[in-house]
Amino acid sequence: MSTVTPVSTSTSRKKVTTLTFRQKKERGEPITMLTAYDYPTAMAMDRAGIDSILVGDSLAMVVLGYENTLPVTMEEMLHHARAVARGAKSALLVGDMPFMSYQVSAEEALRNAGRFLQQGGMDAVKLEGGRERADAVRAIVGAGIPVMGHIGLTPQSVHQLGGFRAQGKTASAAKRLLEDAKILEGAGAFSLVLESVPARLAEVISKQISIPTIGIGAGVGCDGQVLVTHDLLGLFDRFTPKFVKQYANFHAEMNKAFTEYVDDVETKRFPAVEHTVEMRDEEWNAFQEEIK
Ligand code: KIV
Repeated sequence: MSTVTPVSTSTSRKKVTTLTFRQKKERGEPITMLTAYDYPTAMAMDRAGIDSILVGDSLAMVVLGYENTLPVTMEEMLHHARAVARGAKSALLVGDMPFMSYQVSAEEALRNAGRFLQQGGMDAVKLEGGRERADAVRAIVGAGIPVMGHIGLTPQSVHQLGGFRAQGKTASAAKRLLEDAKILEGAGAFSLVLESVPARLAEVISKQISIPTIGIGAGVGCDGQVLVTHDLLGLFDRFTPKFVKQYANFHAEMNKAFTEYVDDVETKRFPAVEHTVEMRDEEWNAFQEEIK
């Protein structure tokens, strides 16, 4: 492996919990959250001081290459959750419940939520939907598992919503979202993702509920922010939502590195002497004698 440049590390951070989330909201301190799906990314985020890591079902699109989030399974989510849990020790880890792992019944929702903690090393789960998910949220919270809600643009309902489009843009839709937020709070959710909703609606919701809101495309009035890491890093080049701030262009960087590698191998510039294992002359001579 090549030499690496030292990175900034905040060592021995205290474990972030759902209580930390609530305290940060009370103190008006923004909560930071990003998605991760593997060990090195989770480790880099944890060292950067992130409050929470979501093993999002966006895995389906940005890592596995599916058109939407619907095909990803519990087994795939758990596989990636375990990798993230091995890399991040301080951040609050949230496992995203995949499509059809919680919709059929509250019992099935509870069983699958439990798997995220027992088999995936997660601290909490997230599920999409408003009032129609209240029973599932109550069942999971009743078993001592923290639940993060997710309303607004809920990608698992892409077909019902008619595409990945902003939500809550009419007075009645906004009122319904505010009601959903209150219902999820009442059902025991510890936090709520607001995705792709008008900023002033997100601000009102954030003020009217006591649990922290985590916005994605929902403006600065939320109690925290989350982004899909592959969007932030410029790793997913199919499309970038308007609300994403891209901090790097890793796709271009990877492309450059791979092109250089191909060229180096084809022109025999790689491997060079410094990448090559040597053998003492006397051993080499003895070997030559052996094979004569
Ligand atoms: O799956 C995911 O990455 C998410 C975020 C967009 C919040 O649900």
